[in-house]
Amino acid sequence: MVPDSLRRRAEDLRRQIHYHNYRYYVLDRPEIPDEEYDRLFRELVELEEHYPELRSPDSPTQRVGAPPLEAFEPAPHAVPMLSLENATDEAELREFDARVRRFLGADGPLVYSCEPKFDGLAVELTYRDGVLVRGATRGDGTVGEDVTVNLRTVRTVPLGLLGNDVPSLMDVRGEVVMPVEAFRRLNREQEAAGLAPFANPRNAAAGSVRQLDSSITARRPLEFFAYGVGRLEGAEVRTHWELLERLEGWGFRVSEHRQRTRGIDGVVEFCRRTEARRDEFPYEIDGCVIKVDNLGLQDRLGTKARAPRWAIAYKFAPRQAVTRVKGIEASVGRTGAVTPVAVLEPVSVGGVTVSRATLHNPDEVARKDIRIGDWVVVQRAGDVIPEVVRALPERRTGDERPFVMPERCPVCGARIERPEGEAIPRCTGLSCPAQLKARIRHFASRRAMDIDGLGTKLVEQLVDRGLVRDVADLFRLSEADLVPLERVAEKSARNLVEAIDRARKRDLARFVYALGIRHVGEATARALAERFGSLERLMDATEEDLLAVPDVGPEVASSVRAFFGEPANRESIRRMLEAGVRPMPPARPKAEQQAPLTGKTFVFTGTLESMTREEAKARVEALGGKVTSSVSRRTDYVVVGADPGSKAEKARTLGVNVLSEPEFLELLPSKFR
Ligand code: IVH
Repeated sequence: MVPDSLRRRAEDLRRQIHYHNYRYYVLDRPEIPDEEYDRLFRELVELEEHYPELRSPDSPTQRVGAPPLEAFEPAPHAVPMLSLENATDEAELREFDARVRRFLGADGPLVYSCEPKFDGLAVELTYRDGVLVRGATRGDGTVGEDVTVNLRTVRTVPLGLLGNDVPSLMDVRGEVVMPVEAFRRLNREQEAAGLAPFANPRNAAAGSVRQLDSSITARRPLEFFAYGVGRLEGAEVRTHWELLERLEGWGFRVSEHRQRTRGIDGVVEFCRRTEARRDEFPYEIDGCVIKVDNLGLQDRLGTKARAPRWAIAYKFAPRQAVTRVKGIEASVGRTGAVTPVAVLEPVSVGGVTVSRATLHNPDEVARKDIRIGDWVVVQRAGDVIPEVVRALPERRTGDERPFVMPERCPVCGARIERPEGEAIPRCTGLSCPAQLKARIRHFASRRAMDIDGLGTKLVEQLVDRGLVRDVADLFRLSEADLVPLERVAEKSARNLVEAIDRARKRDLARFVYALGIRHVGEATARALAERFGSLERLMDATEEDLLAVPDVGPEVASSVRAFFGEPANRESIRRMLEAGVRPMPPARPKAEQQAPLTGKTFVFTGTLESMTREEAKARVEALGGKVTSSVSRRTDYVVVGADPGSKAEKARTLGVNVLSEPEFLELLPSKFR
């Protein structure tokens, strides 16, 4: 039984945390310092750990942690999620207004509610008595997919509604988007980890929401904007404008760029202004949505087959252009990935000149049937590398040639292989200069070792002249090596040698990131550095050690193991250390890691007297330690209860600390005993 006072305390904490989440994530105006927030959060976590029955589905601690799914369940929509008719210019907006007024028999101007059209993934969130009970994708409008566990990880999706006047039942509709900055960062991480980048923020958002493993969604920077409702029971609203305000009050993010205006002139003006300022939005918008404001009038107008009569989407001119493919090159990246790249007649796309565009992979080229000599549509979305959308076969002359992926690397001549089940072919050359150049550029890049002055042209020369055959060779370069190179004056040679010298003491996280291990982006590198504290420990980490790091899944773990298991990589690192490279351990452990058992690994064997295994595990974890099932050299303590198994024996053989139950309790702060 949970004492009443604690139950009330948990409720109170939940309410406070929901409110502060809202201030922080939705309004971007926190009221309390982060430490204060962390304190509230930790208190709730501890309470729920001691009394798991306090863990309600709307608890802010419950955003992550659902096991991966096999497949999504179908999620029927009580009220269909319709689409919108489009207007592409002012005349079509005016026709819409005329149509609506004719239908209503209205003489005077109508009031419209205008907002941006978010370019993301449409979803529906169902709340019963203020608690989120389901999150679904739009699907075909009638049945979507149940992505509740994923949407729960999005910070701007309220798990519980704020205020005392929450509706008894509500389906909130809106869009999940990935802000452009966050999208660029994610793509840098993807590329650094040797993974294919997302084509645009919309794909990234959609791909993140439709993950079977919600821990992946949780790491993706997503936001939810509300713009409407399906069912709404137990709340009175008369206009769309009022609805948006109520949604905001219940804790949702609603576009601040909305406007209510009487008559179509104001609508036209809103659309024009929004389009002109399109690039100032932190997320992608692809138009404006105009809605008849009065909900009574909306009802009278009703819907047609797939779209309501009371709304219209004004679509912006696309950031696309038509040009010709002069050739298709196979470009070799740092991990050997060979990507087909279209070389284009330069063309301006939304103000930026584009002369190359990615074709992603050979399957994509075949699927889109893009040939050398074709006229094609190219587009820019977010800030991605421009891409070829489609060919214009009607403009073919017959001289076009299909692209054939070369069998050998165009740079080093090694075989190009495509592992079973993978979309991306790779150059197998161990010393492929193209890979080496890309690896060095990554190693030296600003977010990695930050070696100022080591630009593309210089890297080309260093590799082509055989001065650098391996990243470690950078640390052996002297001014005398550099001065003979093109466009290198004495002063810049000196500066570069100094910059390389400074890089010797970069912190471990940067160093790990710089190594360019597949699947290890900046965030993962930081997590690894924090967990292991030294390069040696990371290099010797077992799969199990790696899996214990937050955010490290089987794919990352095996990639890290494979990297450090490769003799050439170990040799390269050895040579760097020999040349005086000293990656610095993380300067200041994070607050949570200063917990008394941080970094300590426990194994339990036998039956404990004063608590169950589960409780013991919860306490160790609450104090920053971890519990594993098997004993290894890296185990810090083996706690032995009654009738222990072979683990106690193994611990003694390996020289691991063996503790009795009372000795274990001694290690814990008094309130945890
Ligand atoms: S209202 C009855 N408002 O556009 C339709 N939709 O083509 C109600 N969208 O799938 C939709 N921003 O995902 C509405 N501010 C906004 C929107 C918006 C984006 C999307 C929505 C829908 C599509 C319709």
